[in-house]
Order: sequence, then structure tokens, then C-alpha cells
Amino acid sequence: MLRRWRQEDLDLYAEMCADPEVMRWIGDGRVRMREECADAISALERAWDTRGFGLFATELQASGRFVGFVGLSVPDFLPEILPAVEIGWRLAADQWGKGLATEGARAALDFGFGHVGLTRILSIHQVGNGASGRIMEKLGMRFERETVDPSCGRPVRVWEITRSDWERREPSISR
Ligand SMILES: CC(C)(COP(=O)(O)OP(=O)(O)OC[C@H]1O[C@@H](n2cnc3c(N)ncnc32)[C@H](O)[C@@H]1OP(=O)(O)O)[C@@H](O)C(=O)NCCC(=O)NCCS
Repeated sequence: MLRRWRQEDLDLYAEMCADPEVMRWIGDGRVRMREECADAISALERAWDTRGFGLFATELQASGRFVGFVGLSVPDFLPEILPAVEIGWRLAADQWGKGLATEGARAALDFGFGHVGLTRILSIHQVGNGASGRIMEKLGMRFERETVDPSCGRPVRVWEITRSDWERREPSISR
């Protein structure tokens, strides 16, 4: 289930962002403090209000448990590709390997192309983050470039998909 953020998400979000495995391939890989997570949730909600899209808080339908985020953002950390909208994901480690990120990302692409009216969506992963690269392939995205994230000096790969690619995707990609 993809939804807007609530203050009650903070405990589980902060727990997730304090896990070095979860943060390994994000920026310089450092874990985040609870206060930073609280500020991040406020910033994510402000982004939703001003842009009309954002990162969705993500929960399991069966239990209603918050498990992370999937959704759309502006990749300000990589000025060379701007203007752009990227799709991204971050889930609690005990939820990995069940296809949740791919399921959520497909819904977020439908939202971005169908509801927001975007014509192109990028996605960026650090070299070494094989799971994220695999999700981009499964979504039917195309490799666009490899470059360096200037904020941390790590190499990153940029992938892209256009609205017409998404509308013409193989039936297997929409399942
Ligand atoms: C990346 C992340 C969201 C993936 O979530 P998930 O729900 O496990 O992803 P899915 O199950 O939908 O798909 C993962 C795919 O990658 C594959 N995979 C997993 N680890 C891999 C690796 N090291 N190398 C290559 N492929 C890998 C899986 O087998 C699966 O592919 P398959 O369906 O063909 O078998 C999760 O690992 C995460 O939150 N990581 C930490 C945060 C992060 O790195 N975010 C992304 C920043 S770009």
C-alpha cells in the first residue's frame, strides 16, 4: 500500500535508516540519526504539497506495518541530469527479497506517467547495488549513463524510461 507520510512512521523509519545494511549504497553510506529522519519526513511531505508527487510511505496491506518508501523525487544530488524526476526505493531489511520494491515501483511509474503526466523518469543506483540495478531492468528501464555522485565521489549508473516505453511495455513487465 502506497500512501502519504504520517508522524507515526518515524519510529520504524528511523530504525531502518540506522541499519548499515540498508544505508550501504545511499550517498556516503552513513546511517541517519532519528532527528535527521524526522526532518526528512517533514521535507518529504512538503515536497508532496509543492510538487504533487513524492516518495510514498509504503506499508504491508495485510498488517498495515510501515516498511519503507517507494516513489518519485527530484535528484538534486546529481545536477548534470537535471531537470529530472527519479524513481527510488528503500525498504526495511527484513522485507527484502519478496518483490515488494518492484511491485511498489510499478505502481509509482503508473502514478508518475498516468496521474502526474511525466514524460520521462530516471533511476540512479550506485555501482555495486545489484538489487537496485536488477529492479531497473525488471521495470524495463534503459541504461543511460555512468557518472560520479559529486556529493560522495561514488560511481553511479543512471537508467531511464519514457512514458511511451511504459505504455508499450511487455505484458510480463506489468504483472
Ligand atoms: C533495493 C531494495 C529496495 C530491493 O528491495 P526488494 O523488495 O528486495 O526488491 P525486489 O525483490 O523487488 O527485487 C530485487 C531483485 O534484485 C535481485 N537481487 C538481490 N540482490 C542482488 C544483488 N546483489 N545483485 C543482483 N541482483 C540482486 C533479486 O533477486 C530480485 O531480482 P529477481 O526478481 O529477478 O530475482 C532493498 O534491497 C533495499 O531497501 N535496499 C537498501 C536501500 C537501497 O539501496 N535503496 C536503493 C538506492 S538506489
